[in-house]
Amino acid sequence: MIAERHDSPNDIEAHNPFLGNNLGIDGLPAVTAAAIGERTIEVSFSDGASHDFHHQWLRLACYCQACGNPADGIRFSTAIDIDPDAAPASISAIDRGLEVHWTDGHISTYGNDWLLHHAYDGAAAERRRTWRPTLWRSELAAAFPTIAWMDATDGAAGHLRLLQLLRDFGIVQIADMGPAQERTEELANLVGPIHETTVYGRIYDVQAEPVAKLGAKTGMAQAVHIDDAFSYSQPGIDIFHCLVNTAVGGMSTYADGFAIADAIQSEEPDAFELLTTVPISHIRRHPGEIDMRNRGPLISLDEFGRLSGIRYFDRALAPLDCAPELIEPMLDAIRAFNRRMVDPAFIAQIRVAPGNGMLIDNHRVMHGRTAFDPSAGRHIRLCHVPRDEFHGRLRELSRTLDPAHHDLHLPQGSTLS
Ligand SMILES: [Fe+2]
Ligand SMILES: [Zn+2]
Repeated sequence: MIAERHDSPNDIEAHNPFLGNNLGIDGLPAVTAAAIGERTIEVSFSDGASHDFHHQWLRLACYCQACGNPADGIRFSTAIDIDPDAAPASISAIDRGLEVHWTDGHISTYGNDWLLHHAYDGAAAERRRTWRPTLWRSELAAAFPTIAWMDATDGAAGHLRLLQLLRDFGIVQIADMGPAQERTEELANLVGPIHETTVYGRIYDVQAEPVAKLGAKTGMAQAVHIDDAFSYSQPGIDIFHCLVNTAVGGMSTYADGFAIADAIQSEEPDAFELLTTVPISHIRRHPGEIDMRNRGPLISLDEFGRLSGIRYFDRALAPLDCAPELIEPMLDAIRAFNRRMVDPAFIAQIRVAPGNGMLIDNHRVMHGRTAFDPSAGRHIRLCHVPRDEFHGRLRELSRTLDPAHHDLHLPQGSTLS
């Protein structure tokens, strides 16, 4: 397919509705006053709050028809087109928003909802970093986050609920999907497009085989792990669909990597420091086919010090390659994580019924299973969807159904440094 070219703002509008500097969120405090300062404009709102916006920040953020369209984020004017000393000639509060007349004659209008959701000082900046995961341990098995397939597929509200559970718990069970093969892909499509890999292909059948290439295709127990921890960017969301399960064994086991990291941070801070700063390596080789490796911290943090990703697959861990004096402290630190990971106190164990599905954030929640009789016919289908697709849909559904939370900074997953 030939990519379409945008030659004018009108072409873009044909595909993306023009929003200007508005989000379409009602009920927020109106702009009551604005004052021009030396480098900033101070905007006051009807709830008594006020926020400062730099002149050139506002000028660059103008999404009028000439400057760009926030619907697809494409700009016509860029940072180098904007005068760093751009200054307002006059400003006024208009219909809930702010109008700025610039000294060069350009006119910009900013909606109150847009200003409040993009303010970058004080409580506004604080608000966007307030999201926290719901940490869990073994007790999750008794109250497992679950949504019925009928509810998850019954319009935007159910779809959003599904994605919110996945965001908060890092895992959600979908009940009563039925065992039809095509349902696997239908479930994936609620999260995003399927990501294909060499090891798994597009959709992978987890079934015991007489001659198994991967541990998954045996009846052996699999300790909880992060899938493909040897990838630069490990798979985002694991999509599991249970077609056939066994009566004995084959229990599903899950551990919240964020809960483990949180415990290490408070109980063994030295180990936490090492696990967040010193890279470990994972490896997966299929001789003659592929040799996958990466280096990155076991626990990733974001700019605010919040947990952002977990990367650990005990059986794919490569020999440590770090400063000699760090070898022994790092092995101790890795054991601090590994011990908790197999501690029943951290493991939520459930039997997944045939016809049920599971979405798992593979940058946070580890999954495994207990042993089962390989001749029993246990059959799980598995595929992966990138996390940015998941968060992208979550944000867009939230903007209309849960606007106060649509722009929170969410964990961007495991990093490589
Ligand atoms: Fe796995
Ligand atoms: Zn403009």
